[in-house]
Amino acid sequence: MAIRLGDTAPDFTADSTSGPISFHEWLGSSWGVLFSHPKDFTPVCTTELGEVARLKPEFDKRNVKVAGLSVDSVADHKRWAGDIEETQGTALNFPLLADPDRKISTLYDMIHPNADNTLTVRSVFIIGPDKKVKLSITYPASTGRNFDEILRVIDSLQLTAKHSVATPVNWQHGGDVIIVPSVSDEDAKTKFPGGWKTVKPYLRIVRQPE
Ligand code: BEZ
Repeated sequence: MAIRLGDTAPDFTADSTSGPISFHEWLGSSWGVLFSHPKDFTPVCTTELGEVARLKPEFDKRNVKVAGLSVDSVADHKRWAGDIEETQGTALNFPLLADPDRKISTLYDMIHPNADNTLTVRSVFIIGPDKKVKLSITYPASTGRNFDEILRVIDSLQLTAKHSVATPVNWQHGGDVIIVPSVSDEDAKTKFPGGWKTVKPYLRIVRQPE
């Protein structure tokens, strides 16, 4: 069954490079990013994991825990970690989950048989502190992901959760945002005392709240 936005992220237990993990317990009250890669000791995956390790302080700043996953074993993950550090200049600093029996890949629908029968595709799930899935995206094996975009979506989701604003096309942190339609003008006066610009009654632009 595909996982849809708003669904509860399935819970599981797994071995990882940081020891056994019980997913929901490990997430605690944090946000989470769970992402799969096709295989250890492959070139694109090596660059991706190095980049996620480099960006770890950015995820920490946003109270986001990150975990990677493939159908390989913990022993393989640990051997590969040496290559990642050597070639990408960043040591693995987040758990890589092992899924040799494909239990988690199946739960999260990360194996797409028409792409590859056995390997996970490049799935990404962003999970909120309420354990609900806030974003899911799927990339092909041959395309490395843009993790700056994942951070951008997290920033947008956290702004929505905190301030009842949405973010427009190509928004970047610090840019103007949009008051969500469910907030009336009356309520907006309290929420946004600095005012806003009404372009259309349904398009109200406001400075990004801090
Ligand atoms: C890679 O990570 O380079 C890769 C993995 C599987 C298929 C194609 C590329």
